[in-house]
Amino acid sequence: MKNIEIIGTGMAEAKRQITNDDLANIVETSDEWITSRTGIKTRRFCGEDEDATSLAIEAAKNAIASAGVKPEEIDCVVCGTLSGEYVVPALACLVQRELGFREDIPVLDVNAACSGFIYGLEVARGLLNSTDGHIGLVIGCEHLSRLLDMEDRNTCVLFGDGAGAAIIQTTDSGVYESVLGARGGYEIAVEGPGEVRSTIKMDGKAVFKFAVEAIPKCVTTLEDKAEITLDDVDMVVCHQANSRIIDHCVRKMHADSEKFYKNMDRFGNTSAASVPMALDEVCKNGLAKVGDTLMLVGFGGGLTWAGVLIRIGEKK
Ligand SMILES: CC(C)(COP(=O)(O)OP(=O)(O)OC[C@H]1O[C@@H](n2cnc3c(N)ncnc32)[C@H](O)[C@@H]1OP(=O)(O)O)[C@@H](O)C(=O)NCCC(=O)NCCS
Repeated sequence: MKNIEIIGTGMAEAKRQITNDDLANIVETSDEWITSRTGIKTRRFCGEDEDATSLAIEAAKNAIASAGVKPEEIDCVVCGTLSGEYVVPALACLVQRELGFREDIPVLDVNAACSGFIYGLEVARGLLNSTDGHIGLVIGCEHLSRLLDMEDRNTCVLFGDGAGAAIIQTTDSGVYESVLGARGGYEIAVEGPGEVRSTIKMDGKAVFKFAVEAIPKCVTTLEDKAEITLDDVDMVVCHQANSRIIDHCVRKMHADSEKFYKNMDRFGNTSAASVPMALDEVCKNGLAKVGDTLMLVGFGGGLTWAGVLIRIGEKK
C-alpha cells in the first residue's frame, strides 16, 4: 500500500460571525463563561445564501488551486460530514457535479463525526491504492448551526459552520501512519430525519473525559507505529473542540504547547471541518512547509477517534 502526502489545502469560512455576547442575548450565558470553559470567542454561521454544499465547494476549489491540480486529475473524493443538506446525494457528489470531476472515480461521504476528515484521509488512501489512483480530494464540511437548539446553552455556544479540504497524492516515500477507532456511544447524538427537527444533544462531561483519553492514545500509537516522538513532528493539528481539552492533553503528555495549533477561538467546534480548516491555516501561515511532518488527531461522536502522521509534499 502506498503512502499519501498533502499537496494542497483550502478552507471556506461561513459569512456570519457570532460572538459570545450575541449568544448571551439568546441564552443565559456570558463571554466569561464560554471563554474560560472552552476558549471559544466567536464562531461563524452560514448566511442566507450559504449551506454545507456551497462551503464544501469553496473549500475544495481553494485546495485544488493551492495544489495546482486540474479537476480532471482528481481520482477520488471523500467528504467527512454529518450535516449536509441532503442525506442523498452525498455532499462529495454535489462537489463533483459542481467542479466537473471525471465520472470514473469513487465519490462518497464518511460520517465519523468530528473524526470525519481523518477517517476520510484513510478511506481516500485505501481507494487510491485499490483503484490505481494518484490524487484525491478529502473534505471536512459542516453546517452545524442548522442542527443547534438555540435554547440549549450546553450545546449552542460550542459549535460553528465551515469547511476545509486537502489534496493528497500517493507516494512511494515519506512518512505515513494512521490509527482509527471507535467505542460506540450516544454521548453526542443527532437523530435522523423525523417529525421534529433534530438537534445536537451532548453529555459534555462524558465527552470531555473521552477526549482527554483519545488524544494521548492517538499520539502515542502514532509515535510507536512510526518509531518517532513528538520532537520529530513539526506541528500537531487536533480537533478544535475546546482549548481546555488540548491544554489538558499537552500537560499530560509533557508536550510542547507551541506545536499544538488552535483556532477554536475564532471558529468554535466545526466537527469534521475543524481539522482541515486548522490544517489550511497551519500551511498558509507558514507553520508547516514542504517536507514537514504533521500529526492530525480527531475525536468525537460515535465515540470515534483517529490520527494520522502525514507529510507535506509537492505535486509530482
Ligand atoms: C461543555 C463543557 C464546556 C461544560 O463545562 P463543565 O465545566 O463540564 O460544566 P458543567 O457541565 O459542569 O456545567 C456547570 C454549570 O454551568 C452551566 N452551563 C452549561 N452551559 C453553560 C453556558 N453556556 N453558560 C453558562 N452556564 C452554563 C451548567 O448548567 C451547570 O450549571 P449548574 O451547576 O447550575 O447545573 C465541558 O463539559 C466540555 O468542554 N465538554 C466537552 C464538549 C465537547 O468538546 N464536545 C464536542 C466534542 S467533539
